[in-house]
Amino acid sequence: MPTAERASSTSLDLTWVRLQFPSLAQTVNGHPAVFLDGPGGTQVPQRVIDAISDYLSRDNANTGGAYHTSRKTDRMIAEAREAMGDFLNCDADEIVFGANMTTLTYAMSRALGRELGPGDEIVLTLLDHDANFSPWKALEEKGVTIRAAKFNPADCTLDMHDLARQITTHTRLVAVGYASNAVGTINNVSEIVRLARKAGALSYIDAVHYAPHGLIDVRALGCDFLVCSTYKFFGPHMGVLYGKREHLQRLRPYKVRPNTNNIPQCWEWGTLNHECIAGIKACVDYWEELGHRVDAGLRPAGTGQSPVPTLTRRQAIVAAHAAIHPHERAMTEKMISGLLAIPGLKLYGIADPRRFDNRCATIAVRIEGHTPLELATKLGERGFFTWDGNYYALNVTEQLDVERTGGFLRIGLVHYNTMEEVERMLGALREIVGA
Ligand SMILES: Cc1ncc(COP(=O)(O)O)c(C=O)c1O
Repeated sequence: MPTAERASSTSLDLTWVRLQFPSLAQTVNGHPAVFLDGPGGTQVPQRVIDAISDYLSRDNANTGGAYHTSRKTDRMIAEAREAMGDFLNCDADEIVFGANMTTLTYAMSRALGRELGPGDEIVLTLLDHDANFSPWKALEEKGVTIRAAKFNPADCTLDMHDLARQITTHTRLVAVGYASNAVGTINNVSEIVRLARKAGALSYIDAVHYAPHGLIDVRALGCDFLVCSTYKFFGPHMGVLYGKREHLQRLRPYKVRPNTNNIPQCWEWGTLNHECIAGIKACVDYWEELGHRVDAGLRPAGTGQSPVPTLTRRQAIVAAHAAIHPHERAMTEKMISGLLAIPGLKLYGIADPRRFDNRCATIAVRIEGHTPLELATKLGERGFFTWDGNYYALNVTEQLDVERTGGFLRIGLVHYNTMEEVERMLGALREIVGA
């Protein structure tokens, strides 16, 4: 078993963190499992598993009924909305739950599309996941013009000049990712929101990839919409959309007649996944407890101590992110410098540590003479879980001309990973390629 550790550069108690996630203790072919697949979906703490199973064991019911379990379900969903409101820094009635980010984005693109037609323009980027591209591009069928901003192939950062050029008085919406799920670039979304607002356009931020790595504050950003998926930040497989109240109230969602006209429920299609919503509340509880522990500087569980919360839930989430950030940064530096020392390896994205504030711990590489699938398979046999391919960031792999040859090998680190795992991963990769 890997030894858990205290992250040297932060107040993050990695022993406690790792104990929360039962799946991290698995082995594969006798090797400890190393989860570097966070960008595809993160592991969940025990409390999320318990919340899902407790809900199904005790409270399983539909909403709006005049009886005990249904009322409990209504209450639980309301609490989960409050919790997600604190996670994103908005009000509970601005939180819409859905199956996943893609479904929510299609629903919103249909609703916004009702108001758009020839002469209207939407600005997208070529750096985005296809879930923030195709739902908007589909509005071409209504005569809407789609413009896509380029990115710089050398470091996979958005070409902000090109983006600014694409935004005109005809722009109705700018849809952009907070961070790239393929190459890890963090975009300057505050500036993009500002540019959109200046042109009188709405902003739609895909924060799916950013959410496990950085604090989201929709109020500070001033964005009109922001979407994320809880399964990428230690929760269950669901999506969450933030919409400014005025937009959720004004826009007309496609909906069935008996559904309420009240927000946010009028945006939610059919019966939701209640057990997973219970898991979302537990996921935010995890973030909160992590923050309280960071704040209190408490030691691992088992000491019998429990943290004394002195922070609000939002403040605790802020504290959790403050502790996660330097740990992820240190792992990224080690991983990237180790990778760059492997002969024939090409890294896609920001490689200069002085610019690491503009990237997260998601690293895309190719190694001469090996396909990404071959590398991922050989790593997988040794217990390292990585991804190969395009991860639906199809424009990125096409622009970089790697789509025909298997995309990238993607190594994704989140806060439950350790420096020791980074070292072992580098060792395994060197061995596989004979470096
Ligand atoms: C950046 C980004 N956006 C959107 C999505 C789609 O999310 P979902 O699976 O919740 O539809 C993903 C999934 O990997 C993603 O990484």
